[in-house]
Amino acid sequence: MEQKIDCIVVTDPGVDDATAIMYALFCKEINIKLFCIAGGNGPIINATNNCLFLMDLFKQNIPVAVGPDHPLKRPPTYALNAQGKGGLGGYKVNTKKIKSKIIETPACDAMFEMLKESKKKLPIVAIGPMTPIAEMLEKYPDSKKYVKEIIFMGGTKEKIYGKPYREFNIAFDPESVEIVLKSKIPLVMVPMELGHFAYLDKNDIKIFKKTNKIGKIFAKMFKKYKDFHVGHLGAAVHDVCTIYYLTNPQNMKWENGYVEMKYYKNGNEEYGYLDTSYDKKPNAKICVDIDITDFKTDIFNALKMTSEVL
Ligand code: RIB
Ligand code: CA
Repeated sequence: MEQKIDCIVVTDPGVDDATAIMYALFCKEINIKLFCIAGGNGPIINATNNCLFLMDLFKQNIPVAVGPDHPLKRPPTYALNAQGKGGLGGYKVNTKKIKSKIIETPACDAMFEMLKESKKKLPIVAIGPMTPIAEMLEKYPDSKKYVKEIIFMGGTKEKIYGKPYREFNIAFDPESVEIVLKSKIPLVMVPMELGHFAYLDKNDIKIFKKTNKIGKIFAKMFKKYKDFHVGHLGAAVHDVCTIYYLTNPQNMKWENGYVEMKYYKNGNEEYGYLDTSYDKKPNAKICVDIDITDFKTDIFNALKMTSEVL
């Protein structure tokens, strides 16, 4: 069998983060070396507890390092409306029962150490705000030479409703995105539109429920997970698309484009967004399509594999 792909995951679990983590742990292609927690879908304590809960649930012993509890330069704007109070939709984690522990090393230091220890450059999968990555790049400027690429869920390819769209991961900490862009690390962008196409519909969620106990837990998570665009149609699993790029790039399509941070002002509203264009020297692969049938089949297969930890 081919060697697994070692990677580092920056995450703010979140329902779609949890689905991405399940897929990454139980597909056969990925070896997660480190989780770095970012605040985002909820306060850092929620995101950390949710990641530790997933380590218990999946019986994993992967280091979990905690990032800053706020964006680099602005106050946090958590996504409690979309991801539910605890961050895992309709599933309430009993934090008193969590056994897994964080490592004491802060995320930016743990990420740098893991990168330096690795014999080869590692991909970083960013499925939450980029705060921990920016912190590492600021503290260890030469860290960028150890990073193969950053595959991030964030931004939108097009303007939506005629204006730049305030995609959560980018808008939560735009100053961190600027630092990552300045590093010139190769980027793979998985824009929000993909998750609005690659969503699990009601039948898919029924398959989750019927598969095993873990599928039932995910079905509970999906219950209160509200992605504005997909709404009642199902669960927009944005974050899974980043892992899928690593496991099945042949089932995705991308364009070489140029992404840069811009700030949109409309009355008293001001937010950061990623502007995409195709008339400058490309600095990112922008994913534009995914084979949804294979995508879902691979997710269902990974879910079936979770039975081995029950
Ligand atoms: O806009 C979608 C992104 O914001 C996803 O990563 C989701 O988990 C939230 O963090
Ligand atoms: Ca996320």
